[in-house]
Amino acid sequence: MDEIRIAVVGLGHRALHWIRLLERLDGYRVVAVCDPIERLLEPALAALKNRDGVRRTTQYAEILADDTVDAVALCVRCQEQGALAAMALEAGKHVNSEVPAAHTLEDCWRIVLATERSGCIYQLAEQTRYWGFVDAWRQIVAEGQIGRVTFCEGQYIGYYGTRLFFRKTENGSEPTWLAQMPPIHYLPHELSPMLKVLDDRVIEVTAMGTGSPSYAHPEIEAPDIQVALMKTEKDAVLRMAAGFTQPVSHARGHHWYQVMGTGGSVEWSRSGRERPKMWRAGAQMHDMAEMDWRFERNDAPAEARASGHGDADYYVHAAFRDAVFGHKELSFDVYAAMDTAAPAILAADSIETGTHLRVPDFRPSAHRALGQSPANE
Ligand SMILES: NC(=O)c1ccc[n+]([C@@H]2O[C@H](COP(=O)([O-])OP(=O)(O)OC[C@H]3O[C@@H](n4cnc5c(N)ncnc54)[C@H](O)[C@@H]3O)[C@@H](O)[C@H]2O)c1
Repeated sequence: MDEIRIAVVGLGHRALHWIRLLERLDGYRVVAVCDPIERLLEPALAALKNRDGVRRTTQYAEILADDTVDAVALCVRCQEQGALAAMALEAGKHVNSEVPAAHTLEDCWRIVLATERSGCIYQLAEQTRYWGFVDAWRQIVAEGQIGRVTFCEGQYIGYYGTRLFFRKTENGSEPTWLAQMPPIHYLPHELSPMLKVLDDRVIEVTAMGTGSPSYAHPEIEAPDIQVALMKTEKDAVLRMAAGFTQPVSHARGHHWYQVMGTGGSVEWSRSGRERPKMWRAGAQMHDMAEMDWRFERNDAPAEARASGHGDADYYVHAAFRDAVFGHKELSFDVYAAMDTAAPAILAADSIETGTHLRVPDFRPSAHRALGQSPANE
């Protein structure tokens, strides 16, 4: 195989960005586009430079039955996102899925089992883990420069107005899944980079949130803020927060991270005027020092430049392509992907039930052979 014949499914604004990126990268050919909303098919085709023979359909089942489709680029925004990924794997297609991976624990397991049983590649296209500062922090932690990590924070307080919460219909508009989704389900952009920095996984979760509907936009059902406390296997405590209706300044940015250890700390900038910072105990430092860490990597290849999100969007497509071709195994494999999705889903369950929950390890073990359902699934 020298070309991945890929179908793009879910044709919102994100898919249009993917279509343009996929055409720019070697090794991909977009062969089909799919969305249940028919009027979105033409704009998706129009985004392609080479649209000869590209099939269009409103039926996902047609994509799954199509032998000329090797892989599915899943850009849907819906509660069934995880089930749709699993269905493609079960049909023998590789899957590159937008974040978050799934909205139920059952769908997380279904993705894992379908990946194991099919031998296909499943990638969660979480790109922030490729940011330059994430690798810098990972190295700092690995070298013990800030001692043993005790505390880590991540938050995605993303405010984009109300546009993404409603979609046009023939009779007016209806809420999208974002308007109903517990915001904390969207933690993969925090957990993916921070678990990479910590080389760790979450084992316990508890969480709280403000009430529904939003105080800032009462026409939206989703609460403004949800916050989870998590415990990791290496005994660090994480505070992870998400909200998409809470107004915040754009200059401040939507994401914020901090890692504290027994020997110092690193943190992201709090405003557009600030720089990220670092402090080391025992290094004669009276205050935190400003650091020139950025999203952009200084070793990015030319194709990565301007690919989106501080050049990071390129990397998920390059990694998926290399894994499908068998050139390089995914470092962010299906298990690491579920390490970012399951704690987020359980955080929402914790808010709903007021309980403290344990997070399963999706990897095969003495209790679960490869491809076998877990006993207590
Ligand atoms: N990684 C990132 O930085 C990033 C940025 C934005 C969005 N996203 C993710 O990308 C995805 C798409 O986001 P968007 O803003 O384009 O959403 P959107 O709501 O604009 O578009 C999603 C599309 O999915 C379609 N869809 C829903 N259910 C479907 C189904 N069963 N089969 C096929 N299509 C279906 C909808 O009809 C809609 O057209 C979401 O998962 C979102 O979380 C990721």
